[in-house]
Amino acid sequence: MKRKFIVANWKSNFTSLEVNQWIERFKNYDLGFTNKGVIICPPFVMLPILKSYLSNHKSSIKLGAQNVSPFDEGAYTGEVSAKQIKEFADYVLIGHSERRKNFMESDEILFKKVELANKYGLAPIFCVQDETTKIPENVKMVAYEPVFAIGTGNPDNPETAEKIAKQIKENTKVTTVLYGGSVTSKNVKDFTQTPDINGVLVGGASLDAQEFYAIIQNA
Ligand code: 13P
Repeated sequence: MKRKFIVANWKSNFTSLEVNQWIERFKNYDLGFTNKGVIICPPFVMLPILKSYLSNHKSSIKLGAQNVSPFDEGAYTGEVSAKQIKEFADYVLIGHSERRKNFMESDEILFKKVELANKYGLAPIFCVQDETTKIPENVKMVAYEPVFAIGTGNPDNPETAEKIAKQIKENTKVTTVLYGGSVTSKNVKDFTQTPDINGVLVGGASLDAQEFYAIIQNA
C-alpha cells in the first residue's frame, strides 16, 4: 500500500491559546497509522509550542514551516532562515500561490529558497498551480494546488488532479505529489485513491482538530 501524506497548512491562523486548544482536542485521537505521514505547518512563532508538545508525547507527527528566507543567515531583517527553521521542523512549504500573489515571489526567489532548504536538510514541499509551473531540479515533493480550488469549497476533479500528478512525475524527479484545494474528510479519498496522488495539503479543514483527524482516517 502506498504511503500517504496528510499535511496541514494553518496559514496565518491561531494564537498560542488556540494552538493549545487544537492540541487538547487532537490528542484524544489515536494516531497509530503506520502508512500515513502527518505533517503540521503552523505559523513560525507556533513551531516551538508544537515541537515541545510532539517530543513530550513521542508523536510521529512532523512539523513544517510555511515559508523560508531566500537568504542564508545574516543581515536580513524580518526573515527566518532555513538554518533556524531546521531547529524546529523537517519540511517547508515553498511557492504557495498566496505567497506568489501577495508577496510577489518569483521563480528565481523560489528556486533560491529551495536551494537553502536543501542545504540545511529541510525537505521542500514545492507548490505548483498547474502543469506549467516551473519545478526546481532538487525537489522530491510537490503539492498541486489550483488557485480556483483554494478556500472556495470547489475542489478540482480527481481525474484532472491525477493526470497532472502523473505528468509531473513523468517530467521531473518528483516522487511525491499532493493535491490541495478544498480538501475535506468527505472528498479526501477521491484524491488519495488515485495511483499518482500521494496525499493532500489541507488548509481550512485542518483548523478543526476533529475534521483533520477524519481526513487522516479517510485518506
Ligand atoms: P483550503 O484547504 O482551505 O482550500 O486551502 C488549501 C491550501 O491552500 C493549502 O495550502
